[in-house]
Amino acid sequence: MTTTRLKIGIVGCGKIAINHAKALHAMPEVELVACSDTDQDRAESFAAAHGIAHAYGDLEALLGSGLDAVTICTPHPTHEAIVLAAAEHGLHVLCEKPIAITLDEADRMVEATAAAEVKFGVLFQRRFWPAAQRIRAAIDAGALGGAPVVATCTVRLGRDRDYYTSDPWRGRWDTDGGGVLMTQAIHYIDLLQWFMGDAVEVSGHIDTLVHGDYIEVEDTVAATVKFSSGGLATITAGTTFTPGLGTQIVVGGRNGRTVSLTEFPEGMPAVNDIWTVEGEEEYLQMHSTDIESDPPLSQIHVGLAPFHQMQIEDFVHAIVEDRAPAVSGRDARRALEIVLAIYESSRTGQPVALTSGALAGLQ
Ligand SMILES: NC(=O)c1ccc[n+]([C@@H]2O[C@H](COP(=O)([O-])OP(=O)(O)OC[C@H]3O[C@@H](n4cnc5c(N)ncnc54)[C@H](O)[C@@H]3O)[C@@H](O)[C@H]2O)c1
Repeated sequence: MTTTRLKIGIVGCGKIAINHAKALHAMPEVELVACSDTDQDRAESFAAAHGIAHAYGDLEALLGSGLDAVTICTPHPTHEAIVLAAAEHGLHVLCEKPIAITLDEADRMVEATAAAEVKFGVLFQRRFWPAAQRIRAAIDAGALGGAPVVATCTVRLGRDRDYYTSDPWRGRWDTDGGGVLMTQAIHYIDLLQWFMGDAVEVSGHIDTLVHGDYIEVEDTVAATVKFSSGGLATITAGTTFTPGLGTQIVVGGRNGRTVSLTEFPEGMPAVNDIWTVEGEEEYLQMHSTDIESDPPLSQIHVGLAPFHQMQIEDFVHAIVEDRAPAVSGRDARRALEIVLAIYESSRTGQPVALTSGALAGLQ
């Protein structure tokens, strides 16, 4: 029996595209046939390094080359135009996080892909960690006595001048859309709202307290979130920690029980570190001087690769089975809305009401 393999291309041939290329090559039902980058030389050397037949310096040439789907690995503010162009060509799209840097962009992306009847997914591969899946399943099974009542999300990462200055688009509001919230904490904000439900109100403060000599976006955040269930959460985030101390999300239930996960060092799959569900109690000590706490970015990406692979496989199966991908554009809008609401609250000094929950069920 012969089956037709899905032809997929990658747009943007930088660092995270490596995880996409490896995942796509590993899938027998997929043929990774093309890549493109505004920097043609980069597209060509990426194609040569990853065994990809066609390299383009022009997006339209890639989109018109007979593909079924594309994955997008370009800087955040470029996501919208590429998703809209792909939808116009009738291609399914899997886009890197954050979906976009404004809600208007995100809404246009969701609408265009829905109108074109193509699948639209957004990468939040940390949802595929066994630790995250176990928390979601425990909540669904009622292990916390109903909707969770309280959560803390603590993001304590290290980034330095090199990180912010080696990519020209990083650290600026117009080309990066934000700092630690938009680029790093958004992964954990996605998990927080996946565990807690619809966020309805946000208050917060942001500041640039350590990296201000070379970035204009925030490196430090303290915020609170109210959920439609009545549950409350805090978010603290920084790229100011040397060494980095990783990320922890702790979720508490009405019955007093707690589930949690910790990613330490950054890029390693999180483990459930405090788990007081009756009969399943576990307490782990995560931080240790024996652990290399500040791995280089390339090593962080290697740690993330198995989970990129799972989400990319889910997306391909969503196309084949004609079902929604695990994380839709509408889902990804929720995390973006929380990030943008923290920025707005910090600017105005007022709490900000959210609307993503009211849009639930649209896609
Ligand atoms: N899911 C994750 O864990 C994860 C990790 C890292 C990065 N990302 C996301 O992936 C995206 C890319 O990040 P990166 O670190 O790989 O960036 P990068 O700078 O290493 O690579 C971006 C590439 O896109 C190209 N490019 C820029 N504009 C383009 C356009 N309009 N069309 C085609 N190519 C274009 C650049 O030339 C560059 O080669 C960002 O949105 C980032 O948030 C996600």
